[in-house]
Amino acid sequence: MLVRLANGQTDFIDFRERAPAAASHDMYLGPDGKPTTDSVEGYRASGIPGTVSGMEYAHLKFGKRPWKELVQPAIDLARNGFPVSWDFARSLHDPQSIAKLEKFEDSKRIFLNDGKGYQFGDTLKQPELTATLERIRDFGAAGFYEGPVAHKIAEDMRAHGGLLTEKDLANYKTIDRPALTGKYKNYTVITAPPPSSGGVGILQMMGVLEGTDYARTGAGSAREYHFLAEAMRRFFADRSEWMGDPEFFKVPVTSLLNPATIAALRASINPDHATPSSEIKPGVYTTNESTQTTHFSIVDPEGNAVSVTYTLNGGFGSGVTASGLGFLLNNEMDDFAPKPGSPNYYGLIQGEANSIAPGKTPLSSMTPTILLQDGKLRAVLGTPGGPTIINSVLQVALNLMDFGMNAQQAVDQPRIHHQWMPDKLLAEETISPDTIDLLRTKYGHDMILRPRIGEMAVIRLDNGWIEGAPDGRTEGTAKGF
Ligand code: DON
Repeated sequence: MLVRLANGQTDFIDFRERAPAAASHDMYLGPDGKPTTDSVEGYRASGIPGTVSGMEYAHLKFGKRPWKELVQPAIDLARNGFPVSWDFARSLHDPQSIAKLEKFEDSKRIFLNDGKGYQFGDTLKQPELTATLERIRDFGAAGFYEGPVAHKIAEDMRAHGGLLTEKDLANYKTIDRPALTGKYKNYTVITAPPPSSGGVGILQMMGVLEGTDYARTGAGSAREYHFLAEAMRRFFADRSEWMGDPEFFKVPVTSLLNPATIAALRASINPDHATPSSEIKPGVYTTNESTQTTHFSIVDPEGNAVSVTYTLNGGFGSGVTASGLGFLLNNEMDDFAPKPGSPNYYGLIQGEANSIAPGKTPLSSMTPTILLQDGKLRAVLGTPGGPTIINSVLQVALNLMDFGMNAQQAVDQPRIHHQWMPDKLLAEETISPDTIDLLRTKYGHDMILRPRIGEMAVIRLDNGWIEGAPDGRTEGTAKGF
């Protein structure tokens, strides 16, 4: 959670999942040395959940209204139910989701309606979750990390070979970190520090692009997308080697964002042709320096801004519903490198910097971001989407800063994604066929077309005018106060 108060104070609240004490470097390797699916599905996939602690931390530090009043609407929705939306119904009918959820008793009963499924417009009621939320309402984070809820989670884990213990839950701590801040032209970019890779990512890529005339041929031109893809490819190579939990690995943030590093990356781009990823290696940096996801963006009437991305990781997390408690558990352990050098669920190649260790935080791509222009709040943005988060935030920020788009135009503009390995350029199908053709034939990109990349939630401010732009790719909404 990235916060910027109207008085200019900024804060980054890290309530990311952390590895349980019993986690170990090779815990997801089978006897043959190959990664198993345990980091993605089932009881062993969960890191220690952080959301409840993070929300309480934010409330204690910045909140004004009583905690009970804030939790009550969630309780009402859980108890009385809410209508299943089209997008939620679609995801509940997705064969992969069904295959995952039906393996776990509570998940099958609650989310698959005991095998009967939910249709658009059906009411989903969650009595166990109601009781869990009531404890959180009455006892704060202690209602989750201690007492009967913690006990039940741990008991369920013990019964099914999971690792989370009561001690892991009791020891969970939200970490207050300084936000990462950089410059792009006359904008200040306030964003996520490690253990997210996203803030460093967008700042490095903006730095690379700032020194080019990538914007000259206009938004949506093949040449623009080519420059973006080349900046993305290079950042994700660095990410694979140099990024992980800063408590365990010295992330060379200053070197990754050093003007000389950025100039060298820029110089290595061929403006006319794709560089094969096999020719791009992570940079060499010294570390002797000090050292299914949701996003919401908020600006209040006083001008305080909050940008929050949080997640269970994959759709429906590990697939496991904590027995009798009514909520799904995450599969965030897969954000580590289950086998350094081999791809994880998102196909990301990652190294020792992001290997598993007890208490360590898995590297993230979540990139909640705030833009200031001449010191004034100009935009609040972020998105779900795994590694595509970093590139979606980059592109929407550039659409606002370089192409003068309003919030909705910036969100609607088709997006691309490159993550170094695999050496593929993902592109939304709505990009013009001429552009796709040029990217393939003229610039030599190996392309895969996708219906959608990212699901942005953007607020843009302009001289007292506030625009909220949800992403038409799915069913986000914007609300005024
Ligand atoms: O922290 C990360 O980078 C991932 N756990 C985010 C996962 C995600 O965005 C999935 N949503 N579509």
